[in-house]
Amino acid sequence: MPSDDFIVTPWNVEGDIDYEKLIKRFGTEKITPELISKIDKFTNESHYMLRRGIFFSHREFNRILDDYQKGKKFFLYTGRGPSGHTHIGHLVPWVFCKWLQDKFGVNIYFQLTDDEKFYAKQDLTLEKTYEFALENALDFIALGFKPENTKIIINTKNIKTLYPIAAQVAKKINFSNTKAVFGFENETNVGMIFYTSLQSAPCFIEDLPVLIPLGVDQDPHFRITRDIAPKIGKPKPALIHNIMIPALSGPGSKMSASSENETIYTTDSPEIVKKKINKYAFSGGQPDIEEHRKKGGNPDIDVSYQYLRIFFEQDDNKLKKIYDDYKSGNLLTGELKSILIDKINEFLKLHQEKREKAREHLDKFLLKD
Ligand code: TRP
Repeated sequence: MPSDDFIVTPWNVEGDIDYEKLIKRFGTEKITPELISKIDKFTNESHYMLRRGIFFSHREFNRILDDYQKGKKFFLYTGRGPSGHTHIGHLVPWVFCKWLQDKFGVNIYFQLTDDEKFYAKQDLTLEKTYEFALENALDFIALGFKPENTKIIINTKNIKTLYPIAAQVAKKINFSNTKAVFGFENETNVGMIFYTSLQSAPCFIEDLPVLIPLGVDQDPHFRITRDIAPKIGKPKPALIHNIMIPALSGPGSKMSASSENETIYTTDSPEIVKKKINKYAFSGGQPDIEEHRKKGGNPDIDVSYQYLRIFFEQDDNKLKKIYDDYKSGNLLTGELKSILIDKINEFLKLHQEKREKAREHLDKFLLKD
């Protein structure tokens, strides 16, 4: 059972997250059916990530839509901390960004924070995080973004653009504030303490309001950005939050790029995918077949089912059938896993081809300053 006993910060996610409570704790707004139908009207399409509550919370998405209706555009911004290869959970907000970009016809900025991961992880060099930044960029590009309206920012390379904005931001954030938000201590390196200023900078890169699709763990940075925005004469960034994607070992763990067996990487081979799912994906099934047939499984805690719901089965009817069959005991855990394995491998085959092609085009996406 979810309880109060969970932690969600940019550098630490623990416990079984109760998203209703998280909305209260963070002071965000729930994505209501009314908001979803408003979005549907603009986009002429209902997105499964909204229907299924994968995106569940927001800050001022309403304002962005109302302004858009009055003819005022916005731009999109999201990012990734390159601490390893991309895992499938990272694709969730990026795919949603692509959809928003297509529907609203707006620019997007993608920030790769090689500096952040260098500050935050003991065992990573700056060379290594930069290398991962370039690799992660390929996954982003592979989702179909175009260089005409997409720019990739790498912090250590684009500091010339970021720094004047970060300086404006940094002057308005005081230590006690950032300390209270992130729990910094005297031993925390000063790179971490300054870092929110750099993640804030792309919010103000264009003279328009920004909308940021992001994992809810990143909200604390932008809570600070929103507080200081009026003080530097800028609009507050609007946010739309997705849930944390569970690690293979199940509820209560976030899919983290640094634990090999907890994660499916976009670079994994079909054999590795099969092995990881079969061996590590937490199951909501019963201990043996007989009992499973009799009592049925629990799709709500089953990681294979959750991956289908979150990303790999976009057809609601097919998903419902899997849900019902698993719950009734008709579908066995091994069969459910094999549905997921096929889906992931089908997706990755194409994705990996596009990812390799993206190498040739990478340079066109990188912000030149
Ligand atoms: N800090 C983020 C991470 O660790 C990376 C990031 C930078 C980001 N800018 C962002 C994420 C904007 C979401 C939105 O993954």
